[in-house]
Amino acid sequence: MHTLVSGGIVVTPTSYDPGHPTDILIDHERIVAVAPGLAAEVGPAARVIDARGRHVLPGGVDPHTHLDLPVGGGIVSSDDFASGTTAAAFGGTTTIIDFPTQARGGTLRAALDEWHQRAAGRAVVDFAFHAIVCSLDAQVEDEIAALPEAGITSLKLFMAYPDRLMLDDGATLRVMELARRHRLVVCLHAENGHAIAHLVAAAKAAGRTTPRMHAATRPAVTESEAVHRAIALAEVSGATIYIVHVSTAGAVREIAAARRRGLPVLGETCPQYLCLDETAYDAPAAHAARVVMSPPLRPRWMQAWLWEALAQDDLQAVGTDHCPFTDADKARGLDDFTRIPNGAAGIETRLLLLHEFGVRAGRLTWPQLVQVFATGPARIFGLHPRKGTIAPGSDADLVVFDPEPAQELAASRLHMRVDATPYDGMTVHGRVETVISRGEVIVDNGRLAGAAGRGVFLRRGRP
Ligand code: URP
Ligand code: ZN
Ligand code: ZN
Repeated sequence: MHTLVSGGIVVTPTSYDPGHPTDILIDHERIVAVAPGLAAEVGPAARVIDARGRHVLPGGVDPHTHLDLPVGGGIVSSDDFASGTTAAAFGGTTTIIDFPTQARGGTLRAALDEWHQRAAGRAVVDFAFHAIVCSLDAQVEDEIAALPEAGITSLKLFMAYPDRLMLDDGATLRVMELARRHRLVVCLHAENGHAIAHLVAAAKAAGRTTPRMHAATRPAVTESEAVHRAIALAEVSGATIYIVHVSTAGAVREIAAARRRGLPVLGETCPQYLCLDETAYDAPAAHAARVVMSPPLRPRWMQAWLWEALAQDDLQAVGTDHCPFTDADKARGLDDFTRIPNGAAGIETRLLLLHEFGVRAGRLTWPQLVQVFATGPARIFGLHPRKGTIAPGSDADLVVFDPEPAQELAASRLHMRVDATPYDGMTVHGRVETVISRGEVIVDNGRLAGAAGRGVFLRRGRP
């Protein structure tokens, strides 16, 4: 069974030539050739997808999603693996990496089993897992060593949320040592949990409880300090670390300085930090609650630092940290910001926003967009070259993207299960026309064509 994606402008991190349309030949699930003039090599039974005048990108790899995530108080993130991966597909993302979360005192195995059950029969795109470790004992240490056998080659640790998720520096260091020994990447949520808890207690004691206080109690220095400390612990242990959802100029500075010293420090930012800013907390409480996330939105001037870091390879990936909640769930904390579930929707809008505010604004080139959208995360998390590129032998995960049409973003026209996205009302250019996952068309000219349950679990290697 052959498919030919014909005459598109093929983009990879190392090639982009709008003057030379290229064909991509697919045999079943894999790409077999990338060259001009391949039409002559396919029989009449082949499916031909006309990509003339469009860009053809590798399917996106979103290294940071939270689907079907219970966050306490009976609240669960509002996209499950069916709706979330459907939205991912519409946004040109063909691989996600989600976060099985250990129950404190529980095993990693139980969390992995639970997440496999959540995904079973539901995923429209392929998926992989990072393992969140939030308490450590001898059994969990043995489980960390065994993770690669389960197809998992990265961990996530929290330096925030002391009541639920945080590991202290000693335990963090111990996990990093194990990670180095077993060649696992350590992802870190880097915010100083104790300092934040102190500021939160002071705000509540002063009766200051509106959603904007979420941001006021998580100042930029609580991120940059934690990033500095994470890097120090990585240097002591020799581990490779990946700082998730970097939001501040100070954190970028720390990461860039560590990289200049040759340390294996990697970083991710997210569209919300690139495209939104702290003035969103000035909105009425119900709207401000929609952008209560951790870290919070920052002053606008910091965005330039994040874009520049992506362009300079000081940050290597853009993940979404997709963690959506309905307005009803967000409303539980309108009079007490600490009860607002943290997170926002974004799994579907990553490519559109990177195109509009990155490429069209002259902050990223097309190859750089592909690097942070697909190739960078695939490489870091042991999925490359199967995922994240367009080359013979790679999975045929492709996005046919028309950069021209304008659209106004609105939750009602998107597929994420939220009342509103933080981007509603913005006009962006571009349309994800066709999405192919392992050779199968899953979005066909803007319509869903892939079935829930077709996505497979990806056993990852080491980078
Ligand atoms: O506010 C956020 N980011 N919620 C999701 C969980 C996390 O910290 O990544
Ligand atoms: Zn986080
Ligand atoms: Zn997250």
